[in-house]
Amino acid sequence: MLPLLLLLLTTAHGLGESTKPNLTDTFLGGRTTASTFVLEQPRCVFTKLRDDTVIWLVVALPEGRWSAPGDPGRKFQEFPNSSLAYMTLNTTILNYPCDTNSRDITVLRVGSETSCAKDASRPTCNGPLPGPGPYQVKFLALDGSEPVAQTEWSNPIFLRKGTAAGVGHSAGMIALTAILSVLFAVLLAGLVAMLLWGSTFSKPEVVSVRRYNTHHVYDQTAPRL
Ligand SMILES: *[C@@H]1O[C@H](CO)[C@@H](O)[C@H](O)[C@H]1NC(C)=O
Ligand SMILES: *[C@@H]1O[C@H](CO)[C@@H](O)[C@H](O)[C@H]1NC(C)=O
Ligand SMILES: *[C@@H]1O[C@H](CO)[C@@H](O)[C@H](O)[C@H]1NC(C)=O
Repeated sequence: MLPLLLLLLTTAHGLGESTKPNLTDTFLGGRTTASTFVLEQPRCVFTKLRDDTVIWLVVALPEGRWSAPGDPGRKFQEFPNSSLAYMTLNTTILNYPCDTNSRDITVLRVGSETSCAKDASRPTCNGPLPGPGPYQVKFLALDGSEPVAQTEWSNPIFLRKGTAAGVGHSAGMIALTAILSVLFAVLLAGLVAMLLWGSTFSKPEVVSVRRYNTHHVYDQTAPRL
């Protein structure tokens, strides 16, 4: 009975039916930014598939999960307007081996490719995500154009709103730099004005001060000068 149960579990695992993509636990630079998130690679998730099987990541809005795999409308550049899902990060299953060397990178940053974001000739672009989400993702194994295995959809993934490293951060830095520059310029102008005013008018000022002083006060202060 136990071996049969194990066999059933192993088979289900092999087909990925019981597996969801996971956000990585910790990652330098954060698990999510305003336009990216970091997933664990699907290592050892798909077994018993041919070596030339290609593993794709399908990224969808929650309402876009119905789209059939291989739907030709899935272009990154049309997401999320005319396409509610897109496919990206295609690589052969050989890149997700079971045995991991500790130096291997075992995560995928979704949304990291800015260069192809507007290039319609690159529909599989891993471009920056267009908003805070939520998004749901699944890994899909294709043998040719034939789906042979897939994971479940991930839990909804929410991105940071604007304040993340990347776009929001650099915009903040630019604003801060601008404000500091203006303050510095005002301070500098004030200093220059003070210096000029001081050197030009210091003597007349002393004279005028003395002129306003009563004779009595003038006599009192005179010995100290
Ligand atoms: C997600 O994590 C669970 C529990 O650690 C694991 O069983 C599963 O294989 C992971 N999914 C992927 C796609 O790596
Ligand atoms: C989606 O539509 C909005 C509003 O019409 C537009 O600003 C945005 O650029 C479009 N995005 C894409 C990827 O076509
Ligand atoms: C991903 O798929 C596209 C379109 O089928 C192809 O042009 C590209 O070479 C593939 N990339 C990899 C790394 O296999």
